[in-house]
Amino acid sequence: MKVLSSATCCALTLLGAVTAQESNYTNPVIPGYRPDPSCVSVKDTFYCVSSSFNHFPGLPVYASKDLVNWRHISNAIHDQSQIANYTQLHGQQRGVYAPTIRYHDGKFYIIVTFMSDGPPMFNALFTSDDPFNPQSWGPPLKWSTPELSSFDPDIFWDDDGQAYVTVHVFDIVGVNQYPLNTATGEYGQNYNLWNGTGAVWPEGPHMYKKDGFYYLMLAEGGTGPDHMATIARSKNIKGPYQPYENNPILTNRGTDEYFQAVGHADLFQDSTGNWWGSALSVRTGRVAGATPMGRETVLYPVMWEEGGWPHPRPVRGFMRGPLPPPSKDVPGKGPWVTEDDHYNFSGLSLPLHFVHFRLPPANLYNISDGRLIVHQSPSNLTGPETFDPEKDRIAFIGRRQTHTLFTFSVDLEFTPRTSGEEAGITLFLTQYQHADLGIINLNGTRQARFRTTAVGADSWKNIPRETTKVVPLSRDQPVRLQIQAVSDSEYEFSFRADAEGTERVVVGTVGAGLVAGGMGQFIGALVGVYATGNGAEGVTPASFARWEYEGQGQMVDYDVVVGS
Ligand SMILES: *[C@@H]1O[C@H](CO)[C@@H](O)[C@H](O)[C@H]1NC(C)=O
Ligand SMILES: *[C@@H]1O[C@H](CO)[C@@H](O)[C@H](O)[C@H]1NC(C)=O
Ligand SMILES: *[C@@H]1O[C@H](CO)[C@@H](O)[C@H](O)[C@H]1NC(C)=O
Ligand SMILES: *[C@@H]1O[C@H](CO)[C@@H](O)[C@H](O)[C@H]1NC(C)=O
Ligand SMILES: *[C@@H]1O[C@H](CO)[C@@H](O)[C@H](O)[C@H]1NC(C)=O
Ligand SMILES: *[C@@H]1O[C@H](CO)[C@@H](O)[C@H](O)[C@H]1NC(C)=O
Ligand SMILES: *[C@@H]1O[C@H](CO)[C@@H](O)[C@H](O)[C@H]1NC(C)=O
Repeated sequence: MKVLSSATCCALTLLGAVTAQESNYTNPVIPGYRPDPSCVSVKDTFYCVSSSFNHFPGLPVYASKDLVNWRHISNAIHDQSQIANYTQLHGQQRGVYAPTIRYHDGKFYIIVTFMSDGPPMFNALFTSDDPFNPQSWGPPLKWSTPELSSFDPDIFWDDDGQAYVTVHVFDIVGVNQYPLNTATGEYGQNYNLWNGTGAVWPEGPHMYKKDGFYYLMLAEGGTGPDHMATIARSKNIKGPYQPYENNPILTNRGTDEYFQAVGHADLFQDSTGNWWGSALSVRTGRVAGATPMGRETVLYPVMWEEGGWPHPRPVRGFMRGPLPPPSKDVPGKGPWVTEDDHYNFSGLSLPLHFVHFRLPPANLYNISDGRLIVHQSPSNLTGPETFDPEKDRIAFIGRRQTHTLFTFSVDLEFTPRTSGEEAGITLFLTQYQHADLGIINLNGTRQARFRTTAVGADSWKNIPRETTKVVPLSRDQPVRLQIQAVSDSEYEFSFRADAEGTERVVVGTVGAGLVAGGMGQFIGALVGVYATGNGAEGVTPASFARWEYEGQGQMVDYDVVVGS
């Protein structure tokens, strides 16, 4: 890896005239599970999108003016009718893989492949004239390429206005391209561009045109420790592509950096001429496999001189770069990505950053008098053995873990009438990896129950497949439930009777390895609320209030925590 000396720090503005002032910032700029970021710069605003797999709403879109403060502005998938095929995903992390966001001729485009449990189902192209308006993303253009089993699409417009889609192709383990009519979905003959430098999984292609060259950047090495960004270029869009002699241009493989798995990069140029890149990275810890936030979005400055190759600065927690001036002048109702939640619920809809796992049940919730009333689903967070996403739904409302250290707490009023009725809070990765603290009716008595489910977790972590602890609740009074990340590798579950001053009872702890990897290696931990009849059609609604998520620190290097 080429390390840039500090002497090169001020040559980052390559248009010549200005010497940019560099400022400090920390990675990840968009923390929490937001893998495969793709970003675009339009006038004075930056936009990024990330993969969202089975989560709904999907394809979250973030905007920033200063590259440091990012606001969640919309979800390109916000209405079930846009992608009815969510119901056909049985796996824990299928669906919406690696999107690309671009701007062309007054419109924003997000292209993505929708992955079934088996082969890719179809490609989808979402468009918006105004991504600050969540409703602006309509039904996508869909098309399938049966002769070309592919994913991770990029969309690129050449100077003549022709759009090209560049994809990873499973059969050849390489990268092909085809022209696309973005109005009709008709597409032309595909051809091979480059297969990368020979590492596994040459994927996540992005194409750029600069100084008369077509540049093709790839992710290689798989989305783990060997992840990297490689690049090649050609004077002709169809090739032949000449690989850069010093590939990879960006990686942390073979190092013990805190930020690992750096790759799946995208490049963009700000309005003053500076180049930047986004990538995914996994923050590691001292405890192996304790990476609950999974693959997050990082930012790095890039030197890209005329006629030369791009030189990204290596990804670390503490970074410097010629950032635009600080600004929070970004429209929209969604929260900033590191903002805390303090909700007394109101209005008709949930905040933009709240998600469900798979499509939620119809009539999942009502909001009334500051309370979120959640109606039980027969399926619990794991579901019955016969769980079938075509008909089964999970009554779950959550949000991403976005800080290494945080406290999530919520009031719950719930008097379950029949045995099995349960509601509470959860730390959730997949249906087979979650830890829940709830109130449950067990044979007529009201109990607080802490239960961990790790049947999908990595066996090498030696996590018990299931643990249960029950604490009798003496009175039918409300409780305040809490999950706290007390370190980068441990969560503590507790509750207290609602009356202020009552003692908090710690019911259990779990290691972060429970909600990392296993059957959810591509996704990341969520916290949220659930309500279930545990197989039965429960009737008692669960009433939640004072939803609070408070960030209490980001780890940006081994044992280095910066304020929330
Ligand atoms: C930026 O970071 C450097 C070290 O990484 C530090 O010496 C400097 O004081 C920081 N500047 C500001 C303005 O915080
Ligand atoms: C997507 O869902 C629709 C509606 O259920 C169905 O007709 C179609 O076959 C599905 N597409 C694929 C590729 O499975
Ligand atoms: C990529 O791999 C395919 C299949 O092996 C091969 O036909 C093609 O020539 C390769 N492309 C390049 C640029 O080497
Ligand atoms: C929510 O309601 C509680 C109790 O009524 C009140 O103490 C608190 O200030 C409210 N919080 C917000 C953010 O409105
Ligand atoms: C609850 O919300 C559903 C829509 O999700 C609505 O049909 C129903 O009338 C609401 N119930 C109450 C009591 O507000
Ligand atoms: C509930 O009662 C049934 C039948 O008596 C018994 O088998 C079961 O173990 C009881 N469950 C609990 C949680 O006490
Ligand atoms: C979830 O519900 C199923 C019945 O649908 C039940 O067998 C299972 O024990 C429940 N799991 C938990 C964690 O309560």
